[in-house]
Amino acid sequence: MMLGHAERATILVVDDTTENIDVLSGILRAEYRVKAALNGEKALRIARSEPRPDMILLDIMMPEMDGYEVCRRLKADPFTAPIPVIFITAKIEVEDEKHGLELGAVDYITKPISPPIVELRVRTQLALYDQRRTLESLVRQRTQELLATRLEIIRRLGRAAEFKDNETGLHVIRMSHYARLIAEKLAISEEWTDLLFNAAPMHDIGKIGVPDRILRKPGPLDADERKIIETHPKMGAEIIGDHQAELLSMAKEIALTHHEKWDGNGYPHGLSGETIPLSGRIVAIADVFDALTAQRPYKKAWTVAQAMTILEGDSGSHFDPHLVALFQQVLPQAVEIMEKHRDPPRPES
Ligand code: C2E
Ligand code: SIN
Ligand code: SIN
Ligand code: SIN
Ligand code: FE
Ligand code: FE
Repeated sequence: MMLGHAERATILVVDDTTENIDVLSGILRAEYRVKAALNGEKALRIARSEPRPDMILLDIMMPEMDGYEVCRRLKADPFTAPIPVIFITAKIEVEDEKHGLELGAVDYITKPISPPIVELRVRTQLALYDQRRTLESLVRQRTQELLATRLEIIRRLGRAAEFKDNETGLHVIRMSHYARLIAEKLAISEEWTDLLFNAAPMHDIGKIGVPDRILRKPGPLDADERKIIETHPKMGAEIIGDHQAELLSMAKEIALTHHEKWDGNGYPHGLSGETIPLSGRIVAIADVFDALTAQRPYKKAWTVAQAMTILEGDSGSHFDPHLVALFQQVLPQAVEIMEKHRDPPRPES
């Protein structure tokens, strides 16, 4: 977007008389690329096409569409709104100047045209415009960096918890993809689907508070150990905390509700049916499918067919049956993801 110094700026000159266009072009041609329009319609067409002009010199008094109207339309279109407009006018009344500036023009040049004034105003306004674009592109770049950093931190936090009971952290990668596949089938919105995809990796963050001797126990848990494990949803919700940011509030919701069950027999609150947030119901399926098909310290990996037998058997008791049906539809894509992000083989312990 920034204008390199070697690049010539493009100036659009709009005037209903060819004579005025010739005068202005004569002044500007040496330094700039000049385009011309004899009426407002043509001016708007040129302004809206690539490459977008870097400045518009706009006559006010024109038949059909006057300069004010052209300016209003330029400012109403996000593509053309940033282009600086300088009015060229024989009218010098203060009221007119005020009207033009209110419409978003950056300056005025009065007729009869004085070449040094035209050169100076154009050069000054182009420099300001260039500076503004440089700043805006910097802000955009910083915003992108912040967004990327935030996502990276979230991903790493999610993986940190996984490393405790699953050495590679690939579980959160796979399960967030499975969750996204289900969300895509629901077609709520791309934005919601992205939120879910980015929030899901934090579902087990509460396992940070569970002792390794429990998480890594090779056999089944006793009742006390089970009680401790079942604190991880609330612990996760507390670690994530209360936030305005949608991503973190969804992450908290998922952490808290991913072990609730459709029939009300889950934890921590024994919620049932659609009182369980949709995000939690989706992640429940994604999480269990991955826990089943992966090796854990306490279990071997099940085959996809065995895993689907369990999911289907628990459809309507553990899982939202509608969502299980959607997962069945995307199973081929889920298997692709599973194969792409497989845990490396590890010795049986
Ligand atoms: P996880 O390993 O991520 O498992 C998540 C969920 O997947 C489990 O939630 C359970 O609903 C399902 N799941 C995992 N493996 C199987 C399986 O072989 N059969 C069936 N039917 N479902 C399975 P759950 O039960 O609430 O467990 C939460 C977490 O507690 C587990 O997360 C794991 O970290 C731990 N855990 C559960 N059972 C055991 C166990 O027997 N031994 C040990 N060491 N940890 C366990
Ligand atoms: C939380 O919101 O921090 C978890 C408390 C709860 O809802 O049980
Ligand atoms: C569970 O996590 O639900 C129990 C693990 C198992 O079935 O071995
Ligand atoms: C919902 O928005 O709760 C309906 C989605 C579902 O339960 O499958
Ligand atoms: Fe969990
Ligand atoms: Fe999990």
